[in-house]
Amino acid sequence: MSDKGRDEVMGHAEDNDGIEEYDNPLPDWWLGMFIFCILWGIGYGIEYHFITHRSQVAAYNEEMAQAAVQWPTPEVTVGQVADLSPETLTLGADVYKTNCVSCHKADLSGGIGPNLKDDTWIHGGTLEDITRTITEGVPDKGMLTWGPILGPEKISQVAAYVYSEGPKLTGPAKGAAEATPPATPAPPP
Ligand code: HEC
Repeated sequence: MSDKGRDEVMGHAEDNDGIEEYDNPLPDWWLGMFIFCILWGIGYGIEYHFITHRSQVAAYNEEMAQAAVQWPTPEVTVGQVADLSPETLTLGADVYKTNCVSCHKADLSGGIGPNLKDDTWIHGGTLEDITRTITEGVPDKGMLTWGPILGPEKISQVAAYVYSEGPKLTGPAKGAAEATPPATPAPPP
């Protein structure tokens, strides 16, 4: 390493409580790496964007397409409606206790999610409607798409349970009462 200008001081000790600072040049090996990295970056950028036309978005889309083939989204089959036998309702009550209480309360009176016992249904109150709502969810409003999580069997059980506890209306057709506001949300815990 050359000794050009070594150990010269910056000369601002007076402003800094007497602390002096050297003004040594950076080591040549360091500067060399620095400049090499810049040149590499420029070269790589040109190669990436203009020569091989690579793209993160394209790579992402390709991986997602592969993943979709490898792990197909489980088909959300709606309409598998359970019987209302006591065994089904007991199983449904268990599914409800595990998954739904946090939003709809243990007595189905609603909190974050709407009341499931009153006679107002946002998405219809027939057993088919309830099964469909639970399966597909209302992701925009915070009701999960339970189809892939619980599977059709548990869904049919919990739907039967909700239906049996509810007012058992035939309910408005799908979307008929979409404008009805959900039950007043409970105050935060
Ligand atoms: C994270 C909170 C949350 C959880 C957990 C949850 N829900 Fe919901 N649920 C909601 C919200 C919010 C709505 C209202 C959707 C809307 O406004 O369209 C809703 C709506 C519903 C409806 C439609 C009510 C109507 O009036 O049409 C049913 C039925 C329902 N949930 C059943 C369930 C069941 C069964 C479970 C458990 C498997 C469950 N929910 C778990 C938040 C939740």
